[in-house]
Amino acid sequence: MSARNEQIVEAIASVGYYVGASIIDTKLVNALRARLLLLHRRHALLAAHVGRGASREIVPLVRGDAIAWFDQEALSPIEASAMVLINSLRGALNRALFVGAVDTECHYARYPVGAHYASHVDRFGDSDLRVVSLVFYLNSRWQDHEGGELHIQDPAGKLIQSVLPRSGTMVAFLSAQFPHAVLPATRPRLALSGWMRRRALTSS
Ligand code: OGA
Ligand code: MN
Repeated sequence: MSARNEQIVEAIASVGYYVGASIIDTKLVNALRARLLLLHRRHALLAAHVGRGASREIVPLVRGDAIAWFDQEALSPIEASAMVLINSLRGALNRALFVGAVDTECHYARYPVGAHYASHVDRFGDSDLRVVSLVFYLNSRWQDHEGGELHIQDPAGKLIQSVLPRSGTMVAFLSAQFPHAVLPATRPRLALSGWMRRRALTSS
């Protein structure tokens, strides 16, 4: 296991979350940012929805980002490189913690100036498939005063850690256990988010 993966596994095993240096290096972060910005210029980012199924809707008061999902059947070479690293971390987590994650769904996210995401848990009402949440920040030279912090909270909603969305920082946490919120920023805020998922149980 790589030293970084080991560090992340250990943090998740002991406190349930990790905030620190990313498994994705600077060169790849820059390439992912370029890809996100290209999608933005092509109007390929779509307003994010809240909820699932019949209750799915766009609610800017809750969530103001625009997103584009990775197409797992047609990954760009850059996305494929990121998936190799994410899959290696998923393997490490599975072996050490038995989280049973079989895949990772990923999307790019761009928060326009002033947009936020109200406190939420990364599980939809009708699904408990998400086991580990990941966020990779793609913002170069982010300044403290530009805001856009991720607030990681304990199950009671108390602030545990505030994270600036700087390039090279990643966050990982157990999806079911940590409410979190994204604060508004004074410049567009870019990230790649991922969710490691268990296999769905079939009803047949
Ligand atoms: C999410 C989310 C956090 C962040 O997309 O569900 O909580 O820091 N993102 O971008
Ligand atoms: Mn979230």
